[in-house]
Amino acid sequence: MQIPISKFQEQGGRSRTDDLDFETFREQPLDEHVLRCLGYMHDIEYQTVLYTRELLMTPAWKDPQFTAFITLWNCEEYWHGQAIGKVLEMHDRPAHDERLIAMREFGKRYLFWSPAIFWMLGHGIRRFPAVHMTWGAINEWTANAAYNRLQQIAGHPTLSELLGRIMRQEGRHAAFYAAWARDLLENDARSRWVTRQFLVRQWDIVGNGDVPRSETAFAGAYLFGDDEGNALIERVESRIDALPGLSGLNLVQNAIRKATDEVLATEGNVPAARRAATVDLTAETDRVTA
Ligand SMILES: [Fe+2]
Ligand SMILES: [Fe+2]
Repeated sequence: MQIPISKFQEQGGRSRTDDLDFETFREQPLDEHVLRCLGYMHDIEYQTVLYTRELLMTPAWKDPQFTAFITLWNCEEYWHGQAIGKVLEMHDRPAHDERLIAMREFGKRYLFWSPAIFWMLGHGIRRFPAVHMTWGAINEWTANAAYNRLQQIAGHPTLSELLGRIMRQEGRHAAFYAAWARDLLENDARSRWVTRQFLVRQWDIVGNGDVPRSETAFAGAYLFGDDEGNALIERVESRIDALPGLSGLNLVQNAIRKATDEVLATEGNVPAARRAATVDLTAETDRVTA
């Protein structure tokens, strides 16, 4: 049962930041790893407009409910990028256009072709709407889990409030995508098969290909590479399992495991470095070197 767009019109829009005291980041700055995750999240939020450009190349543009949703969704994601950029700025880090210009330069080859690729997928595969609705639901669930985990790790009151506001919107995005995906998957075996094939072959941590692999792998490993992070990912997996025909994929857990292995191999015990500060350094070192 699709969620009526009127819900977004009533409740959506720019997430407020003007009442938050960003000066607290000067007095109580965030650590290096948290800032690196925020840089990644900033980039992904702002990337939404380019993904919108791709989705509009599929025949989904014919449906006014879909175009209304992605208009409002895109606007909300833009303001998420703005809000996170303000946090980066308070730490004298690059943000907004400066990062985006570099990012679009990084992805320019893919971005040149991606509208054509989506046109072909959308016009060549009749069940493609089920794929991008399911994909959207999974990415919104993982975004929500990522903000939740970053809140826990950083323990910074202003950041927690800001991320809490973002999470409320991500939750609504996820509900919309998931309801639509469920409708498409429920009574159509072909949609379930096509969606499963795409997810198994193509799904990876959001941002893969848009930002350097080192950054998606780092964010995945840092946020979810430990027991607390894994508990949040298990909740995402159970939501995916509950979608018609998509049980037992373990998509996110497999991607996080791969990301954690990569980060441990290339950067040493970065995910553990954060835990070491709060948990037990010796136990952590044992785990990492085991
Ligand atoms: Fe967002
Ligand atoms: Fe979202």
